[in-house]
Amino acid sequence: MTGRVIPAELRPQAAFPGRPALCYPIDVTTPETAPMKHMTCIEDLRIAARRRVPRAFFDYADSGSYSEETFRANREDLAHIKLRQRVLVDVSGRSTATTILGQKVSAPFALAPIGLAGMQHGDGEILAAKAANEAGIPFTLSTMSICSIEDVAAATRKPFWFQLYVIKDRGFSKDILSRAAEAKCSALVLTVDLQVLGQRHRDIKNGMTVPPEIKLSNIIDVATKPAWAWSILKGKRKTFGNLAGHVKGMENVNSLAAWIGGQFDPALSWKDVEWIKNIWPGKLIIKGILDEEDAKTAVKLGADAIVVSNHGGRQLDGAPSSISALPRVAQAVGSDTEVLFDGGIRTGADIMRALALGARSCLIGRAYIYGLGAGGQAGVAKAIDILKKEFDVTMALTGVNKVSEIGPQVLVGGAAKKKAAAVKRKKAAE
Ligand SMILES: Cc1cc2nc3c(=O)[nH]c(=O)nc-3n(C[C@H](O)[C@H](O)[C@H](O)COP(=O)(O)O)c2cc1C
Repeated sequence: MTGRVIPAELRPQAAFPGRPALCYPIDVTTPETAPMKHMTCIEDLRIAARRRVPRAFFDYADSGSYSEETFRANREDLAHIKLRQRVLVDVSGRSTATTILGQKVSAPFALAPIGLAGMQHGDGEILAAKAANEAGIPFTLSTMSICSIEDVAAATRKPFWFQLYVIKDRGFSKDILSRAAEAKCSALVLTVDLQVLGQRHRDIKNGMTVPPEIKLSNIIDVATKPAWAWSILKGKRKTFGNLAGHVKGMENVNSLAAWIGGQFDPALSWKDVEWIKNIWPGKLIIKGILDEEDAKTAVKLGADAIVVSNHGGRQLDGAPSSISALPRVAQAVGSDTEVLFDGGIRTGADIMRALALGARSCLIGRAYIYGLGAGGQAGVAKAIDILKKEFDVTMALTGVNKVSEIGPQVLVGGAAKKKAAAVKRKKAAE
């Protein structure tokens, strides 16, 4: 069923004749998903998700830790990087296709691991994985997902990536890695920036705590979100799918959440990375690197790729934005290790900025989660499509035909920097 678009005369922007509306207000009484036709940008999907998803879950995705300085900086610093407009370059043969860790992809990005994605929409992880499959990009399943590894493997045909949090119970970590290998996950994303949990004030205020706080306002909120409630009711699971049945005596969401809370391991160290490297048979991507020294250690320990990331501004508040850390980290990493980037990407131009500053590809977090909340699989497909088309147009208008051609020269002032770096390299070699 599709939603009804509010007639033009009833739209608030009719008060500003002649001005194009950025996003049309849409009647969201439709039980399944918001109509995607008028979603023109990621912000439209965010607005639709805010209307459809209960506040506690929307805020869980939409916030950062503490004062949210790093969360805001991720977006602000990206927006300050200016792209260099080029004209009269033949870009008729351009393509957004490239590879990530040897895998052919239709565009230089993958979907990031997102805990509790299945609470933005029932079966959320399965739907996101399907959308990613159809778009020809990788999907990453979080350890803290609602759908399990086996659920996603059974519902999809292409291999996906699995993200691991190494917790105190190393037996559990070993077991879940065997399950991921069994499910033929093509890469392991090892997240290393969450030994302790950064606090998100809005989660506490909304009762997203352990145990969850049942508040009257939440009950009323859910009652006004029937489309969401219906999708969750229909969904296969309502708890942490990767943990239920695999942790003794912990079956319901409360006991599992309490177990997880006590399982983050402040003693985690590089030795654990060595251990993982020894037991995981496939590609290893280390996620959560913001410092050059850490990047070099990751390379030394044999990481196939690293993700320059501050967890979307959800962990160390006051840390630099991911984009400001990217050039230094990318330079510290040799060409044998791929550099992925995440944090604040909401447009195709942002992907271009990250590639220009040394990333080989990107992970997309909230941008697709808004799509999921707004419209399930169609919403994720829309988010991917928006980013891909924007990236394609950005390539054309910066005069680029291939992803591999992208470098600092697509940025204002970047060509001079590229030349200076080449001269420096030449001098160093002499
Ligand atoms: C709601 C939410 C849940 C997340 N859960 C995880 C997780 O389970 N594992 C992980 O490695 N990163 C997790 N992240 C971080 C993302 O993988 C990614 O680094 C971040 O979202 C990128 O920033 P962006 O959302 O601005 O694109 C989460 C992020 C959000 C917003």
